[in-house]
Amino acid sequence: MIRIVHVAGARPNFMKVAPVMESLGQAAGRRGVALEQILVHTGQHYDRAMSDLFFEQLGLPRPDVNLNVGSGSHGEQTGRIMERFETVLIERRPDMVVVVGDVNSTVACALDARKLGIPVAHVEAGLRSLDRSMPEEINRLATDAISDLLLVTDRYAEENLRREGAPPESIHFVGNVMIDTLMKHKAHALSLPVLEQFGLRRDGHTQPYALMTLHRPANVDRRDVLQEIGETLAELGRDMTILFPAHPRTRSRIGQYGLDGLFSEANGIRRCEPLGYLEFLNLMANAQLILTDSGGIQEESTILGVPCLTLRPNTERPVTISEGTNRLVNPDRRSIAAALAGIGKGSGSVPPLWDGHAGQRVAEVLLDYLDANGAQARAAGT
Ligand code: UD1
Repeated sequence: MIRIVHVAGARPNFMKVAPVMESLGQAAGRRGVALEQILVHTGQHYDRAMSDLFFEQLGLPRPDVNLNVGSGSHGEQTGRIMERFETVLIERRPDMVVVVGDVNSTVACALDARKLGIPVAHVEAGLRSLDRSMPEEINRLATDAISDLLLVTDRYAEENLRREGAPPESIHFVGNVMIDTLMKHKAHALSLPVLEQFGLRRDGHTQPYALMTLHRPANVDRRDVLQEIGETLAELGRDMTILFPAHPRTRSRIGQYGLDGLFSEANGIRRCEPLGYLEFLNLMANAQLILTDSGGIQEESTILGVPCLTLRPNTERPVTISEGTNRLVNPDRRSIAAALAGIGKGSGSVPPLWDGHAGQRVAEVLLDYLDANGAQARAAGT
């Protein structure tokens, strides 16, 4: 019996874990391997809209364990996850731990596993913004440095890992599992009356709109930066509605800085609660334009062929610029206005292996590895 523990903690993790678990189940069945998969939710995100809704919509099994760590400073949150996850590993003794992405849960659980001698597979390894002021960059560097299997989405990630000296045999170019999820759910998402719900489609006519998300500390944790972004958006808001599902962190900053009036319907900015995966996918696919500081949305807009302005000075996902529809824009008025004037409709192409089958390739790599190393490691009692 092979036992694999999967870790999910925050919203962007859930759509990555789903195809990996599903594909592993199928691949194990094909190989006649007995496989137990244990899903651990760290509880880093805990609001219904940030968590439970995703499990329901993506058909993810309910977590076997919830560590309920909740919010806190980076040290507190990471420390709490490590303390609680270690106990799970000691009790369950898995053959492998699979972590995805770059959130605090990713690095915390990878550290625990590696120190107990349990092999770690990192899905979405090798992404680098080269900006060490981003907490996610630290999480990526630390996780990749100790992972046994580095599963990468694109050639840039592979180059980054090679440059850092990762053993070549640990690197596997598998494609993008998040795109598996997008392809699987797109038709269903598009069938939902989401535009009607937001008053963006009437009598079969869709009103042009921009979809925006914003949550990076660099953009929302300083009043002057957030205010400038709001003022620029208010100008765009004269031409088209800006639909803005606000992350809890952003919502609280807007209130705290007294910027509710700026980010408001009066300025063409329609704020709403964080949305489910299917609703958000529908809104991305139908948008004229996406404005974001998220990581994954840069990839999703590339596949959907929707122009994306990323309000950041750098990206860990350069393939979305070289091959996709993404552009980086500083979050100041002049840069945003210039970028808006220059956008065209979906010129991008699809990066290699973003084909809906990345999960299957991940599953084969993991099972091959366990086949070659698992029995040996267990026999050695590590
Ligand atoms: C985390 C990830 C980030 C990812 C983002 C997606 C890290 C370092 N960052 O950032 O990479 O892009 O998730 O959303 O792991 N809160 C709630 N309810 C929730 C979750 C959070 O109210 O369900 C509030 C809390 O006040 C919390 C704040 O949002 O302090 C920030 O949450 P946190 O998980 O610390 O980081 P994110 O900004 O969400």
